[in-house]
Amino acid sequence: MPTAREGEVWRCYGAAMFGSSPLRQSAFYTLPLIVVILAIIFSPSSPLARSVPFVNNLTLKNFSSSLTKAFHTLSKMPKAPTYFFSHGGPDVQYNTTHPVYPVLQSIGKEITQKIKPKAVVVFSAHWQAEPNEIHLNNAEKTDLIYDFYGFPPEYYKATYPNTGSPELASRILDLLSKAGIKARGMKRGLDHGVFSGFNVAFNPETNPLNCPLVQVSLFNNEDPNAHYKLGQAVSSLRDENIVIIGTGMTVHNLRDMRFTWGDPRPLPYSVSFDNALKEAVESDPSVRQEKMAAVTKRPDARQAHPWMDHLMPVYVAAGAASEEKGKQLWTFQEGSFAWAQYRFGELPA
Ligand SMILES: *[C@@H]1O[C@H](CO)[C@@H](O)[C@H](O)[C@H]1NC(C)=O
Ligand SMILES: *[C@@H]1O[C@H](CO)[C@@H](O)[C@H](O)[C@H]1NC(C)=O
Ligand SMILES: *[C@@H]1O[C@H](CO)[C@@H](O)[C@H](O)[C@H]1NC(C)=O
Repeated sequence: MPTAREGEVWRCYGAAMFGSSPLRQSAFYTLPLIVVILAIIFSPSSPLARSVPFVNNLTLKNFSSSLTKAFHTLSKMPKAPTYFFSHGGPDVQYNTTHPVYPVLQSIGKEITQKIKPKAVVVFSAHWQAEPNEIHLNNAEKTDLIYDFYGFPPEYYKATYPNTGSPELASRILDLLSKAGIKARGMKRGLDHGVFSGFNVAFNPETNPLNCPLVQVSLFNNEDPNAHYKLGQAVSSLRDENIVIIGTGMTVHNLRDMRFTWGDPRPLPYSVSFDNALKEAVESDPSVRQEKMAAVTKRPDARQAHPWMDHLMPVYVAAGAASEEKGKQLWTFQEGSFAWAQYRFGELPA
């Protein structure tokens, strides 16, 4: 969509060229479209072009071939990668000495400086809607949700400058509906699964995201394939340089924290499960869904994730990546947690 100012410039230009009657103005907008359609029909490779003599005119040929080239360049535009962030707790944005802190900062810079996304769509562990229905935030302005208990009072004053996008939200609803996924929009603030980690990755002062952010829920179930399919349903957004991020943890056992408090040595399942997940995520995309689903059936899976909410977002990120390979950017196995960070797909050259 042109901005109001651009729209005005084009309108004046149109009026100057074609006069200002509504009919002439609409001709101004439709003529270029007709030219483009003709160029496609008569492109040198089309059978029509070979049978129509005047198209053999070199001038036209060159014109249409440069247009064709332009279309190819556009269609080969790299798709935005997708990510999985291990986001930690509400303390992650305050603990600058934790090893994940500089890692999230550098992934955030990679996204804002190399990808420069048009928008971000985020799926957090902390929003599980219904077993068979997805919810998403379709409001432009929302608050934060302090969905944690027993932390110091200042944690409940955390801020994050988020702007939603009703347009993008409604497109996501369309995509989900086309994929046969029941979904509805609502006004819902960002939870700490998003804002705590994003305050590190996309610090509003040092590395602002500067694009709309739409949060979409998970299913309220533990089905890895349903979440993979959820990611696949929104995969086409990547063609428009929209970055899809799942946020959770690769190992997340809060119950066992009481045994490991103050001791960073990982419990055995933190190592074995995090490693098994890495192998599955990095497997060939043609077998990835199957391998990743099998990880949830491992004997250590229930220890690593007494609830699977923190694991499901990695299936969304992998599904959204479709044929792109996954790569572990970093991990840290600490007590009853693991903090692996993943990217699926390549950065623009
Ligand atoms: C192609 O079209 C241009 C302008 O319309 C004309 O000058 C030129 O002679 C034509 N060339 C051929 C090969 O028909
Ligand atoms: C068309 O392009 C070729 C090179 O790609 C050039 O040699 C030729 O002069 C061009 N013809 C016209 C009519 O512009
Ligand atoms: C920050 O993280 C490190 C590493 O996990 C931990 O040792 C330290 O206690 C944490 N600091 C605070 C204030 O929580």
